[in-house]
Amino acid sequence: MRGGIGSSSRPLPRLLPKPHCTGPSWTFLRVVSLLEGGPTSPFLRAEPGRVPWAKTRPPGARLRAPTPGLAPGWGPASTVSPWRSWTPALFSRCLTLNCNDFTGALCQKSALTTKGLPEMPPCNFTPDEYKGMSKERMMEIRRQNCNPMIMKVTYYKKPVFIHQGYMQWLWDVDGRRYLDLFAGVATVSVGHCHPRVTAAAEEQLKRLWHTTNIYVYPPLHEYCKKLASYFPDPLKVVYLTNSGSEANDLAMLMARLHTGNFDIITFRGSYHGGSPQTMGLTSNAAYKYPIANGLGCTTLLSLSPVFGLIQLTLFLPDKQTMCPDVFRGPWGGSHCRDSPVQTIRDCSCAQGQCMANEQYIGQLKETFATSVPSRIAAFFGEPIQVPYSGVGGAVQYPKNYLKEAYKLVRERGGVCIADEASRPVQTGFGRTGSHFWGFQGHDVIPDMVTMAKGIGNGFPMGAVVTTPEIAASFAKGVHFNTFGGNPVACVIASSVLDTIKEDGAQQISLDVGTYLMTELAKLRDKYEIIGDVRGKGLQIGVEMVKDKASRVPLPPEAMSEIFEDVKDMGVLIGKGGVYGQTFRIKPPMCITMEDADFFLAVFDKSVCNYMEKR
Ligand SMILES: Cc1ncc(COP(=O)(O)O)c(C=O)c1O
Repeated sequence: MRGGIGSSSRPLPRLLPKPHCTGPSWTFLRVVSLLEGGPTSPFLRAEPGRVPWAKTRPPGARLRAPTPGLAPGWGPASTVSPWRSWTPALFSRCLTLNCNDFTGALCQKSALTTKGLPEMPPCNFTPDEYKGMSKERMMEIRRQNCNPMIMKVTYYKKPVFIHQGYMQWLWDVDGRRYLDLFAGVATVSVGHCHPRVTAAAEEQLKRLWHTTNIYVYPPLHEYCKKLASYFPDPLKVVYLTNSGSEANDLAMLMARLHTGNFDIITFRGSYHGGSPQTMGLTSNAAYKYPIANGLGCTTLLSLSPVFGLIQLTLFLPDKQTMCPDVFRGPWGGSHCRDSPVQTIRDCSCAQGQCMANEQYIGQLKETFATSVPSRIAAFFGEPIQVPYSGVGGAVQYPKNYLKEAYKLVRERGGVCIADEASRPVQTGFGRTGSHFWGFQGHDVIPDMVTMAKGIGNGFPMGAVVTTPEIAASFAKGVHFNTFGGNPVACVIASSVLDTIKEDGAQQISLDVGTYLMTELAKLRDKYEIIGDVRGKGLQIGVEMVKDKASRVPLPPEAMSEIFEDVKDMGVLIGKGGVYGQTFRIKPPMCITMEDADFFLAVFDKSVCNYMEKR
């Protein structure tokens, strides 16, 4: 290992200065946390400090002072001199013994309040002690000095006051630990404050915080090249933005400039952002304001006439096509989805046929025939209709739908845009497990891909990736963006791509996600109010209903009760769907099977609690 406490074939970041650098002088290394690899191949982080050996020594361990001259940093436990005799078994034992001084606080207070549940899986990280303002004061400021919108979107009756995060864990200001299965709305892709990504950011922060794309600087070019290498031809040209909405705004602009057409089609129930343009793509009343927005792709335009006394509402032709939702929509069966779990609906289709797909494609043809001119600019779709809206949240289309839809769109001169913002704005970056990008699961190549959310593991960033021809039409005018391609953002996003690979995040998504969905389907069969379990990899939706026969959405109060209970037992999940009827599970792609089991026990218990009370 380069300059670290041991030697390893894996390149690991060095977090602290080498001994010859100016920095703290030190005599001993103190292990501050067991960070990577878990008990079978533990990695340690060490920093200068004296170790109270007698106190920290687990029974049976042979310990001695570290070899002088070793630099602090990261290293595999097996190669660190003083801990050479530390076998995986001994580490496991240490975990059990709660040797906090030695390996970090391994069994901190969990948020768990319910008896009869398994222990929350251990965590080897010690958060800082919270010394900030009181919860009451924060809420006062939130009410008085923050736009009321953030009060409106605050999750939970008893909100979570988050202090710190590490990988799949969050700590509140009282030191309670939560298993985070929502990842800041599907955004923390590889783990909160992932050590490698944090180290990369720290390095860049010391070098250059900001410059813009009017200058030439390595992080922008290194990242654009790297990101492009993850795409098939001809998707090779990148433009970096600050958010998913901005990426979608630009994609709309490029599509119109390139095709010379104006109309853009989206799915009913979709979410593509909150900017005035993307608000037109977004199809959910809750996210719409009565103003002119997204002309050419919206259903409603409200005009305030000259004196502002009367509000005149104009209805424009509907450019949103029916979402092919095989659970809640009019058509759907038990073989439609590319998912380990199918709907509870029956299917009488012959092998190789999908009646639901034919019907939903028929609806799209109907939209072409009635609602748009013969030539269109674009079709916008999320590979899995995920986020806030999505008629049900995490809606999956019939297997061949996108392929046929893309053909119809291209016949009408339109470009096909995959909004992966819900995974790079939510379905990209390995989250679906089987593929790196959500569109690959549909066997299509879009003309443009937009992304945000997980691209920077939570650092604000977005991107539009397209073909050289489409990109060229954008360059007909001049567009400038101060922060898009910021060097810190580029370095972070680059490290996220490397980390996804190095940590095997896509495989984790596939393995843990498939396991979670299969086990959740068993809960669906157990409880009348769990109507549907769907998704791919770690992009999971659990749609709640009053009963399976009616498929009427479970009312908001009932959803809140279960949601709050899950949180009080130590797990954070999300909510979505047009009627708020779907629980959303989109954890950082570092969760383990043990975490999955813990969540399954918590979810089972909370649904059971609700059923017993009603
Ligand atoms: C699919 C999709 N598109 C676009 C957006 C908008 O991204 P942002 O909030 O970064 O503007 C989101 C955000 O949730 C999303 O999920």
